[in-house]
Amino acid sequence: MQLMPAKILFTSTSSMSTTQSVLQRELTTHYEKLYQDTLSDSPRKSRFSLANTLLCELDRRGTGSIIINLGAGRQQLELDMIHMINAAPVNERNHLKRLFNSSKYFTTDVATLNPRKLPWQIRSRENVRHIRNAHQSLAFATESVDIAISNLSLDFALDKMVALREVNRVLKERGCLLVNLHHPRLIKHFIQTRSKVLEHPFIQYVMGNKHFYNNEEEINGCFRAAGFCDVYITLETDGLDNWWQVKAIK
Ligand SMILES: C[S@@+](CC[C@H](N)C(=O)[O-])C[C@H]1O[C@@H](n2cnc3c(N)ncnc32)[C@H](O)[C@@H]1O
Repeated sequence: MQLMPAKILFTSTSSMSTTQSVLQRELTTHYEKLYQDTLSDSPRKSRFSLANTLLCELDRRGTGSIIINLGAGRQQLELDMIHMINAAPVNERNHLKRLFNSSKYFTTDVATLNPRKLPWQIRSRENVRHIRNAHQSLAFATESVDIAISNLSLDFALDKMVALREVNRVLKERGCLLVNLHHPRLIKHFIQTRSKVLEHPFIQYVMGNKHFYNNEEEINGCFRAAGFCDVYITLETDGLDNWWQVKAIK
């Protein structure tokens, strides 16, 4: 099965404005520096709840799924998922291992990551592969993917509709997108705590353009416009951070 066209692994910036390209570059550089000594940039609960939702979806679909994690960073969600599987009662554990091991699993990120800094528990697996790739031009064949997941990354695409349509393109019919999206309260938190992050041009752009999804109607409208049929949305929190948790079916 052809999953990825041979050499289209990198970001196509041709459809971006110059401002967007500069912002994207700055954001990428920010993460490349951050990942030199930081494992993740997401609340632990957001990764655990998404990993748990993914395992439930795998259980529903059975063996042999093709999965992509978009904007996966240093694969901490995958590591959390392995820990969850290993902590499960023995029957369930064997079942979950079978589901995971039989899948083809791709992680992507626009940042260039040092392969040695990815967790060995994931890096050593034959069914998992990491590729450098941006949301706005996914390196996967049309209708080739069963499940796409993304934790607090998909709405970092400067054109959110382009990214959503790309995910919809690569999903098979009735394929599903499981995604956590930033809540605008994050920006209020930065302001209240006078965070240095506010100086970052990308965050200034996000604030100026009210870029993050403000309410459920907005999310529902955008996901449906991108081609998703069923959209389920909840607002989640870990007490500090808030995020929208969305399940969307093509
Ligand atoms: C908040 S971090 C979340 C990382 C990871 N999903 C997690 O749960 O720890 C956002 C990630 O999205 C990546 N990212 C940002 N814009 C992107 C884009 N346009 N395409 C692909 N990845 C992107 C960043 O490099 C970063 O790794």
